[in-house]
Amino acid sequence: MTDWAKNTWRKKPRVQMPDYTDAGALNKVEAKLGKYPPLVFAGEARRLKDALGRAAVGDAFLLQGGDCAESFADFSADSIRDTFKVMLQMAMVLTFGAKVPVIKVGRMAGQFAKPRSAATEMMDGIELPSYRGDIINELDFNEAARIPNPDKMLQAYTQSAATLNLLRAFSTGGYADVHQVHAWTLGFAGRGEAEKYRHMAERISDTLDFMRAAGVSSERAHSLRTVDFYTSHEALLLEYEEALTRIDSTSGKWVAGSGHMVWVGDRTRQPDGAHVEFASGVLNPIGLKCGPTTTAEDLKVLMAKLNPENEAGRLTLIARFGAGNVGDHLPRLIKAVKEEGANVVWSCDAMHGNTIKSASGYKTRPFDSVLREVQEFFAIHKSEGTIPGGVHFEMTGADVTECTGGVRAVRDENLSDRYHTACDPRLNASQALELAFLVAEELSARREESKAEAKVV
Ligand code: PEP
Ligand code: CO
Repeated sequence: MTDWAKNTWRKKPRVQMPDYTDAGALNKVEAKLGKYPPLVFAGEARRLKDALGRAAVGDAFLLQGGDCAESFADFSADSIRDTFKVMLQMAMVLTFGAKVPVIKVGRMAGQFAKPRSAATEMMDGIELPSYRGDIINELDFNEAARIPNPDKMLQAYTQSAATLNLLRAFSTGGYADVHQVHAWTLGFAGRGEAEKYRHMAERISDTLDFMRAAGVSSERAHSLRTVDFYTSHEALLLEYEEALTRIDSTSGKWVAGSGHMVWVGDRTRQPDGAHVEFASGVLNPIGLKCGPTTTAEDLKVLMAKLNPENEAGRLTLIARFGAGNVGDHLPRLIKAVKEEGANVVWSCDAMHGNTIKSASGYKTRPFDSVLREVQEFFAIHKSEGTIPGGVHFEMTGADVTECTGGVRAVRDENLSDRYHTACDPRLNASQALELAFLVAEELSARREESKAEAKVV
């Protein structure tokens, strides 16, 4: 990889990227972004990598979540706060279930560019280029809106900077206090059908009460009133990524300054393609989506390219097969990882294999399928003797009606009420937290099983 540079992706075949018609305008934006400060510091990316290295061996658990696509229209302090808040609640419940630290990574502050399954979209007999995320073009269905405009990168940068600024403020300014986070969760588990989660919520209360009595409370312990919260997005729009890629003065290595972790999507993971080339040379933790068409051979080549030194925490494999399909695909990839002796974090994206069209015509995801995919993922890791290191969700803190199901059931006929996503359907706050309870129960049961097995041995 000695001949890697931040622009070597330009010599490789690229897919899913816009053709900007005005090269002059594009160059101007790239030059401007190239002078702007990076959004994250390399030391933070390294810290996240260390934490992920622990998730790979079961000493931590990754929770990655946020919008499918951030949007310029939905940019507000409230939406950032609400998603941050539900992520913290989920993390706390998962910590209780897994009994290990939960690494919190938002699909936030940079998740703007979208790969699409079709290059064009048809509506009422009119065909237009697909919407590719607010960093590229606009969702409105008219010709002008769909023309890729490089200036949008500057707006995405500004929005990401402001989002990250608020996330940092919430993380350390008192908002993330463990007692407050738990009080919100108790509010959820105290009502209606969610009562079934009350038992676990009360056990968390007891633990916090005990700790407080023993002198460990957020008033005294800094670690109970602050959190580490990281950002991530798909490194899809490589002109933007390249412009924010900088040398880390500590290590002399390149770092993608656009977010702490970046991932390569299921549609852009060609081993000889531009996206893998870019990701291979930056020091950040890298995610790699693995779907039904990922072969064991491709995975081996990709692992060698993306993590040639087999560094712990460098590579997270994000499996997204769909409920009912995990058993058909995950075992062959686990086998490939074992054969290579590769260090990876196994995470489960339980969203992208579970998208269906509802009777009312909306793209949706049934809550039960999302849960079932996570359960299948855990079950297979158990039988393979490998470690399920994390989960990946598309979710929001807002009370949207995009996915069906959950204790405060969203039904097919409710989808039109608050269907706001710019791209894929997201779990709402209540569905996301409920899922965390169910995953925590699962994690806790598996811990008990392993303890029992250890005793028998
Ligand atoms: C996504 O994470 O929004 C996405 C497009 O996923 P995938 O590449 O797995 O389809
Ligand atoms: Co998505």
